[in-house]
Amino acid sequence: MERPPADSDINQNQNPNPNSRPRSATKYPPGPYSMLPTTLLFKFINDPINLLSDCVQKYGDICHFKFGRQHIYLLNHPDLIKDVLVTNNHKFVKSRGTQIIKKVVGEGLLTSEGKIHSMQRKAIQPVFNPDRIKAYVDIMANLGLQTSYRWKDGSEFDIHREMMQLTLAIVSKTLFGSDIEEQKAGQVADAVRVLVEYFNRLRSPFGELFEKLPLPSNRRVQRSKKVLDDIIYKMISQRRNEPGMDGRVDLLSMLLGIMQRQSASGETEYEMDDQQVRDQAMTLFLAGHETMANALTWTFYMLSQNPAIERKLLQELEAVVGNVAADESILPSVSHIPKLTYTETVFRESMRLYPPAWALGRKTLQDYEAAGYTIPAGSVVIMSQYLMHRDRRYYDQPDSFVPERWLSEGIARLPRFSYFPFGGGPRSCIGEPFAWTEGILMIAIIAHRWKIRLVPGHNVALLPAVTLRPKYGVLVKAERRN
Ligand code: HEM
Repeated sequence: MERPPADSDINQNQNPNPNSRPRSATKYPPGPYSMLPTTLLFKFINDPINLLSDCVQKYGDICHFKFGRQHIYLLNHPDLIKDVLVTNNHKFVKSRGTQIIKKVVGEGLLTSEGKIHSMQRKAIQPVFNPDRIKAYVDIMANLGLQTSYRWKDGSEFDIHREMMQLTLAIVSKTLFGSDIEEQKAGQVADAVRVLVEYFNRLRSPFGELFEKLPLPSNRRVQRSKKVLDDIIYKMISQRRNEPGMDGRVDLLSMLLGIMQRQSASGETEYEMDDQQVRDQAMTLFLAGHETMANALTWTFYMLSQNPAIERKLLQELEAVVGNVAADESILPSVSHIPKLTYTETVFRESMRLYPPAWALGRKTLQDYEAAGYTIPAGSVVIMSQYLMHRDRRYYDQPDSFVPERWLSEGIARLPRFSYFPFGGGPRSCIGEPFAWTEGILMIAIIAHRWKIRLVPGHNVALLPAVTLRPKYGVLVKAERRN
């Protein structure tokens, strides 16, 4: 697992944090080195996957480099990743990316730390219980069907844009129920788009500098935040003043219901005021749609490139859901989902090759031992799903789309963190059951009705921003199946 440091690894013995240990005692793992402090950072910004992939190939399971004065460690072994995310999770906090997200979502589940995070997680967990999620199946399915009805036979469009719209509609309707009127739904979609672009901009080296300038784009961000805030606060106050809200099934009502019950029972001192409920709602709103849109986009792209797999998928859909040629309105229901096993493997395999969250970062709170090295306090640790999921030690034909691999016996013997699209440990994705349900349903509804093919000549490229997006979208032609 561990590769000994090479003589040429000239970035050894530079002390990152003089308070943690003496300069001479710190032995760094091997890694790329640049005389210019910002060179590696620019390489990372331009093509992070290639930079990290080179590191793994040249230096093995642990690798070290610096962005300016910041020490970075890349861990690329399931055991090392498990140690960080699960076993020693308390020795880490989330890294800079999360601080950026905080500017919009505040102190929600995605960004809070320590005791506050544990209390929030415990309070919110019931919202994502499988039984609760079943209540959303019909809402999700009907929105999928509406999208399908909108498409014209033979039309060309960017499927990423379509999936962003669809997943946003799903999260809006499940989160806020029927309260978002048509015209407001458009405003919400625009506002969320502006905020997602803002996250991506802030991640650039000059992002935080640009943020302070009176640019039109910054004013748009403030306006978008306000649009969402106004809508969310109005709904919170309506719900607070509404008796009998327990009967409602949307996430916002459940959030409010849960908080009120918890504080009244005296089980916890943690009580959410309107701003905290707003932060949670905004968190779920943003965390719940872009990752989903990417996952579905990459799935339809993969199906367009693999007609034999698509045929097998269709056989399953015909057998389980029924014949849509005979009845266009047939939809998968709750009872169909566990039977759509091949559909599930298609989704699983798509997230192996194109994990929507392509890398996770953590900051060490104290000196930390990994693979025989001491990682000093204040260092950043990166673990990449994209690299791990394509590692030949765990996957044959790692770059090919083979859903069947998930049905083989050997798959159960793979280490847990050789596949982790939803992270792991106490900070794993709380929306995972929601995401599986939504993913399987949307694949089943859309692939059953539409043959989606890439428009010839369209360049599909990766944009590893906060999530793994298609850089130029994915331009497709949709043909009605019957
Ligand atoms: C395919 C879809 C999705 C993927 C790949 C995904 C991936 C992830 C990952 C990797 C994390 C952990 C981040 C870390 O450890 O730093 C995470 C956290 C989170 N996700 Fe998802 N997610 C998806 C869908 C959703 C949905 C649908 C929701 C909500 C409706 C959601 C809400 C959240 C929240 C609130 C957290 C923070 C959890 C915590 O820190 O306790 N996600 N997600």
